[in-house]
Amino acid sequence: MKRSIQALSALAAVLAGAWACASAPPDKTALAIIESRSNSTVTGKAIFMQLSNGKTRVEVTISGATPGTHGLHIHEKGDCSAPDATSAGGHFNAAGNPHAAPTDAKRHNGDLGNIEIGSDGKGSLTIETDMLTVDPGPDSVVGKAVIFHEKADDLKTQPTGNAGARWGCGVVVLTPTGNANAQKVR
Ligand code: CU
Ligand code: ZN
Repeated sequence: MKRSIQALSALAAVLAGAWACASAPPDKTALAIIESRSNSTVTGKAIFMQLSNGKTRVEVTISGATPGTHGLHIHEKGDCSAPDATSAGGHFNAAGNPHAAPTDAKRHNGDLGNIEIGSDGKGSLTIETDMLTVDPGPDSVVGKAVIFHEKADDLKTQPTGNAGARWGCGVVVLTPTGNANAQKVR
Protein backbone atom coordinates (compact mmCIF):
# COMPACT_ATOMS: atom_id res chain seq x y z
CA MET A 1 0.00 0.00 0.00
CA LYS A 2 2.87 2.38 0.67
CA ARG A 3 3.93 2.12 -2.95
CA SER A 4 0.42 2.99 -4.10
CA ILE A 5 0.33 6.08 -1.95
CA GLN A 6 3.68 7.28 -3.25
CA ALA A 7 2.52 6.76 -6.81
CA LEU A 8 -0.65 8.67 -6.09
CA SER A 9 1.06 11.73 -4.71
CA ALA A 10 3.48 11.77 -7.62
CA LEU A 11 0.56 11.74 -10.01
CA ALA A 12 -1.63 14.43 -8.57
CA ALA A 13 -0.65 16.78 -11.40
CA VAL A 14 -1.66 14.24 -14.03
CA LEU A 15 -5.06 13.88 -12.46
CA ALA A 16 -5.66 17.58 -12.19
CA GLY A 17 -5.03 17.81 -15.91
CA ALA A 18 -7.45 15.01 -16.73
CA TRP A 19 -10.20 16.48 -14.61
CA ALA A 20 -9.75 19.94 -16.07
CA CYS A 21 -10.96 18.54 -19.41
CA ALA A 22 -14.28 17.33 -18.02
CA SER A 23 -17.25 19.44 -17.05
CA ALA A 24 -17.33 17.72 -13.67
CA PRO A 25 -14.93 15.32 -11.98
CA PRO A 26 -15.76 11.71 -12.84
CA ASP A 27 -17.01 9.72 -9.88
CA LYS A 28 -14.72 6.77 -10.23
CA THR A 29 -11.26 7.14 -11.69
CA ALA A 30 -8.07 5.15 -11.59
CA LEU A 31 -4.73 5.61 -13.27
CA ALA A 32 -1.40 4.04 -14.03
CA ILE A 33 1.94 5.63 -14.76
CA ILE A 34 3.72 3.51 -17.34
CA GLU A 35 7.46 3.08 -16.82
CA SER A 36 10.12 1.60 -19.09
CA ARG A 37 10.89 -2.10 -18.91
CA SER A 38 13.00 -4.53 -20.96
CA ASN A 39 15.55 -1.72 -21.55
CA SER A 40 13.06 0.32 -23.58
CA THR A 41 12.61 4.09 -23.47
CA VAL A 42 8.81 3.88 -23.23
CA THR A 43 6.89 6.02 -20.75
CA GLY A 44 3.22 6.92 -20.55
CA LYS A 45 0.05 6.96 -18.57
CA ALA A 46 -3.38 5.38 -18.55
CA ILE A 47 -6.55 6.85 -17.07
CA PHE A 48 -9.66 4.75 -16.32
CA MET A 49 -13.04 6.41 -15.92
CA GLN A 50 -16.09 4.39 -14.99
CA LEU A 51 -19.02 5.83 -16.94
CA SER A 52 -22.68 6.05 -16.02
CA ASN A 53 -23.49 3.61 -18.86
CA GLY A 54 -21.61 0.86 -17.03
CA LYS A 55 -18.61 0.95 -19.35
CA THR A 56 -15.14 2.15 -18.46
CA ARG A 57 -13.28 4.58 -20.69
CA VAL A 58 -9.55 3.94 -20.98
CA GLU A 59 -7.27 6.75 -22.18
CA VAL A 60 -3.65 5.80 -22.80
CA THR A 61 -0.79 8.02 -23.92
CA ILE A 62 2.67 6.69 -24.75
CA SER A 63 5.97 8.31 -25.69
CA GLY A 64 9.48 7.09 -26.38
CA ALA A 65 8.32 4.08 -28.44
CA THR A 66 9.24 2.92 -31.92
CA PRO A 67 6.80 3.96 -34.67
CA GLY A 68 4.19 1.38 -35.61
CA THR A 69 1.60 -0.88 -34.00
CA HIS A 70 2.05 -2.12 -30.43
CA GLY A 71 -0.06 -4.42 -28.27
CA LEU A 72 -1.61 -2.98 -25.13
CA HIS A 73 -3.17 -5.07 -22.37
CA ILE A 74 -4.22 -5.16 -18.77
CA HIS A 75 -2.24 -7.90 -17.05
CA GLU A 76 -3.43 -9.76 -13.97
CA LYS A 77 -0.90 -8.68 -11.33
CA GLY A 78 -0.17 -5.13 -10.27
CA ASP A 79 3.54 -5.87 -10.06
CA CYS A 80 6.00 -4.17 -12.44
CA SER A 81 9.05 -5.02 -10.34
CA ALA A 82 10.74 -7.38 -12.80
CA PRO A 83 13.14 -5.75 -15.29
CA ASP A 84 11.16 -7.41 -18.09
CA ALA A 85 7.78 -6.89 -16.34
CA THR A 86 7.02 -10.61 -16.33
CA SER A 87 6.04 -10.05 -12.68
CA ALA A 88 2.73 -8.66 -14.01
CA GLY A 89 1.64 -12.17 -15.00
CA GLY A 90 -0.61 -13.00 -17.92
CA HIS A 91 -3.54 -11.12 -19.41
CA PHE A 92 -6.29 -10.19 -16.93
CA ASN A 93 -8.89 -12.86 -17.68
CA ALA A 94 -11.50 -13.07 -14.95
CA ALA A 95 -13.97 -14.06 -17.65
CA GLY A 96 -12.04 -17.21 -18.58
CA ASN A 97 -12.18 -16.43 -22.30
CA PRO A 98 -9.63 -16.89 -25.09
CA HIS A 99 -7.37 -14.01 -26.14
CA ALA A 100 -9.09 -11.89 -28.79
CA ALA A 101 -9.67 -8.40 -30.14
CA PRO A 102 -11.35 -5.67 -28.07
CA THR A 103 -14.24 -5.83 -30.54
CA ASP A 104 -14.84 -9.54 -29.88
CA ALA A 105 -17.52 -10.46 -27.34
CA LYS A 106 -15.44 -13.33 -25.95
CA ARG A 107 -12.05 -11.97 -24.96
CA HIS A 108 -9.82 -11.41 -21.98
CA ASN A 109 -10.92 -8.55 -19.74
CA GLY A 110 -7.51 -7.04 -20.40
CA ASP A 111 -7.58 -7.21 -24.21
CA LEU A 112 -7.27 -3.58 -25.27
CA GLY A 113 -5.89 -4.42 -28.73
CA ASN A 114 -3.24 -2.18 -30.25
CA ILE A 115 -2.00 1.39 -30.05
CA GLU A 116 -0.48 3.22 -33.03
CA ILE A 117 2.78 5.05 -32.44
CA GLY A 118 3.76 7.86 -34.79
CA SER A 119 7.14 8.92 -36.18
CA ASP A 120 7.64 11.12 -33.10
CA GLY A 121 7.50 8.04 -30.87
CA LYS A 122 4.17 9.08 -29.40
CA GLY A 123 0.69 7.62 -29.57
CA SER A 124 -2.64 7.58 -27.81
CA LEU A 125 -5.61 5.26 -27.54
CA THR A 126 -9.10 5.85 -26.19
CA ILE A 127 -11.33 2.83 -25.83
CA GLU A 128 -14.52 2.01 -23.90
CA THR A 129 -14.95 -1.47 -22.51
CA ASP A 130 -17.69 -3.31 -20.64
CA MET A 131 -15.17 -5.81 -19.23
CA LEU A 132 -13.36 -3.51 -16.79
CA THR A 133 -14.63 -1.54 -13.80
CA VAL A 134 -13.02 0.94 -11.42
CA ASP A 135 -15.40 -0.20 -8.68
CA PRO A 136 -14.34 -3.20 -6.60
CA GLY A 137 -15.41 -6.54 -8.05
CA PRO A 138 -14.25 -9.37 -10.29
CA ASP A 139 -13.66 -7.05 -13.27
CA SER A 140 -11.94 -4.26 -11.36
CA VAL A 141 -8.86 -2.85 -13.05
CA VAL A 142 -7.49 -1.49 -9.77
CA GLY A 143 -4.46 -3.47 -8.64
CA LYS A 144 -3.77 -4.77 -12.14
CA ALA A 145 -1.06 -3.60 -14.55
CA VAL A 146 -1.05 -1.89 -17.93
CA ILE A 147 1.50 -3.40 -20.31
CA PHE A 148 2.74 -1.82 -23.55
CA HIS A 149 4.40 -4.33 -25.89
CA GLU A 150 7.27 -4.46 -28.33
CA LYS A 151 5.17 -5.80 -31.20
CA ALA A 152 1.63 -5.71 -32.53
CA ASP A 153 -1.00 -7.93 -30.94
CA ASP A 154 -2.21 -10.23 -33.72
CA LEU A 155 -5.50 -10.54 -31.80
CA LYS A 156 -5.60 -14.32 -32.18
CA THR A 157 -2.45 -16.13 -30.94
CA GLN A 158 -3.17 -17.78 -27.56
CA PRO A 159 -2.83 -16.58 -24.91
CA THR A 160 -0.73 -13.47 -25.62
CA GLY A 161 -1.40 -12.19 -29.15
CA ASN A 162 2.31 -12.75 -29.83
CA ALA A 163 3.04 -9.15 -28.89
CA GLY A 164 6.63 -9.72 -27.80
CA ALA A 165 8.56 -8.11 -24.97
CA ARG A 166 7.01 -5.89 -22.31
CA TRP A 167 8.34 -2.43 -23.02
CA GLY A 168 6.22 -0.50 -20.54
CA CYS A 169 4.45 -1.33 -17.28
CA GLY A 170 2.28 0.62 -14.86
CA VAL A 171 0.29 -0.44 -11.80
CA VAL A 172 -3.33 0.77 -11.76
CA VAL A 173 -4.27 2.70 -8.61
CA LEU A 174 -7.35 4.61 -7.56
CA THR A 175 -7.09 8.37 -7.86
CA PRO A 176 -6.30 10.15 -4.59
CA THR A 177 -9.16 12.62 -4.33
CA GLY A 178 -12.64 13.26 -5.58
CA ASN A 179 -14.12 9.81 -5.21
CA ALA A 180 -15.20 7.63 -2.34
CA ASN A 181 -13.07 4.72 -3.47
CA ALA A 182 -9.94 6.73 -2.77
CA GLN A 183 -10.54 6.21 0.94
CA LYS A 184 -9.64 2.59 0.48
CA VAL A 185 -6.02 3.32 -0.44
CA ARG A 186 -5.34 5.76 2.39
CU1 CU B 1 0.30 -7.91 -22.69
ZN1 ZN C 1 -5.47 -11.34 -24.01
